[in-house]
Amino acid sequence: MLRKSNTAEPRDLGDQFALLVSSVVDYGIFMLDPSGVVVTWNEGAQRIKGYAATEIIGRHFSVFYPAEEIRNRKPDWELEVARREGRYEEEGWRIRKDGTRFWANVIITALRDESGRLRGFGKVTRDLTEPRAQEIQRNLDREKEALQLRAHAERMAELERTKTHFLNLASHELRGPLTVVRGYNSMLADGSIPPDQVPAVSRMLEIKLAQMERLIEQMLDTARLEEESNEPSRETFDLRFVAQEQIDVFRPLSGGHVLVLDGGDGKVLVSGDRLRIAMIVANLLDNALKYSPQGGEVQCRVGVRDGHAFISVRDVGLGIAPEHISRLFMRFGRLPTDENVTIPGTGLGLFLCKEIAARHGGDITVVSVPGMGSEFTLTLPSAG
Ligand SMILES: Nc1ncnc2c1ncn2[C@@H]1O[C@H](COP(=O)(O)OP(=O)(O)OP(=O)(O)O)[C@@H](O)[C@H]1O
Ligand SMILES: [Mg+2]
Repeated sequence: MLRKSNTAEPRDLGDQFALLVSSVVDYGIFMLDPSGVVVTWNEGAQRIKGYAATEIIGRHFSVFYPAEEIRNRKPDWELEVARREGRYEEEGWRIRKDGTRFWANVIITALRDESGRLRGFGKVTRDLTEPRAQEIQRNLDREKEALQLRAHAERMAELERTKTHFLNLASHELRGPLTVVRGYNSMLADGSIPPDQVPAVSRMLEIKLAQMERLIEQMLDTARLEEESNEPSRETFDLRFVAQEQIDVFRPLSGGHVLVLDGGDGKVLVSGDRLRIAMIVANLLDNALKYSPQGGEVQCRVGVRDGHAFISVRDVGLGIAPEHISRLFMRFGRLPTDENVTIPGTGLGLFLCKEIAARHGGDITVVSVPGMGSEFTLTLPSAG
């Protein structure tokens, strides 16, 4: 009995084991003869590679490899390594019956009998396409996240730098008028200004104080713009009315200038922050008047062109040298011209205008000829 069961058991176990191997579905498990020809096939191999046992048994296992690797004799080389070292393992691309690729983990084991003679190879293949795709995706996600973090850090650093730069410039700009005010004040205090000159000094002080006030206002505007989310508040309005209102504000101040509005006939609807758009128009008009000290016509045109609303302000004033154009829209971008020694300004106006325009999906451009005049144009997406 004992003997009988002893002899029966290994055979049963062997059969069961063969059954187990053949029905494993997660792993391709099969055997090759010493030359690499497939001699057994299991369900997992069929599932992963797509061949039925009858289709693949008897064929060389190199059919599982990409053409280039077959040319490089990689399959033979793998068997050679397994023969020499007992085992070969790798991860790489393999080809299914339908020609598609899959990412495989492959282990080839040399099978030898008791005498050490090579009987063939056992091959275990796992399809790692899905885990690999997930890993690649995870890596991509991680990289993307790292990139975003880096970009954010750079943006913050850049913001810090511009803020510091801005503060330096602002304190420098404030110090100028402050020095003048202090100078006059000490002269007033020690009586070195004759009484008949006091009204003139007072006017001068008033100008300097107004300059400081404007600078502080603009600095606050800049800070507010930077703090705000990117979306400006929205209302739809006609740009022609904004132009008309601003022209009405500036007309009384425009000694020696003729202010003309050409508003076309149709509505010029835009959507956005009306007050801030009005501020842009105000600065363009203010500049047109300031930088044409000899007077002349200041023409404001409003209309729709190529699906964009526009408002342009043209003067026949000083004009801008081509090499100065790039400075116009910078913070404190006052141009180093002879005229600017006497024409007051902080150099923040156009910078703010450009920022506000950009936040509305628009832009400000300029065309200018030195000595002839300039035309600044604000374009905004049309809401009409
Ligand atoms: N219409 C124009 N013609 C000639 N130069 C101009 C004109 N508009 C602007 N500029 C030049 O561009 C510079 C920047 O203009 P911007 O409006 O930003 O500042 P500002 O007028 O000097 O000061 P503010 O901040 O008070 O407006 C001006 O200092 C001036 O030199
Ligand atoms: Mg200005």
